[in-house]
Amino acid sequence: MERTLAIIKPDGVARHLAGEVLALIEKSGFTLVGMKMIRLSRVQAGRFYEIHKEKPFYGELLNFMTEGPVVVAVLEKENAVEAWRALMGLTNPQQAAEGTIRRLYAENVSRNVVHGSDSPENARREIDFFFSASELIAAEK
Ligand code: RTP
Ligand code: MG
Repeated sequence: MERTLAIIKPDGVARHLAGEVLALIEKSGFTLVGMKMIRLSRVQAGRFYEIHKEKPFYGELLNFMTEGPVVVAVLEKENAVEAWRALMGLTNPQQAAEGTIRRLYAENVSRNVVHGSDSPENARREIDFFFSASELIAAEK
């Protein structure tokens, strides 16, 4: 079993898509092992997306990620990282496959409703960033 971090971004929460996204997650066979709603500070958002610090869209990304509350969740499934990325769809909704969350709901490449870890190593880092061990349900035997 693998774990990954999902975020329902501020646009998704504001547009009342949280339930819809969580339903798609559960229908796709993921188990929720941790979840909370928070509002990111600019410092937190900056640290979380530090790998994009030099990118031209970094400032815009921090504005977006701090504009309202987000839902952060830890998902468990075999190959969870890859499976969650597949369900999200590509960053740009116009390139995202039919039936993916971003194809269904994202407005554009910036406001794209969901985040997902891009590797098992980053998933561990991102899960630790938001959750302490006591906030996560123990793995199924
Ligand atoms: P994420 O990290 O949020 O799951 O998204 P991703 O892997 O699909 O895309 P990534 O390249 O990591 O970019 C992170 C987020 O930055 C915003 N973005 N804006 N304006 C732009 O060209 C642009 N490119 C990326 C998006 O919110 C993207 O999800
Ligand atoms: Mg990314």
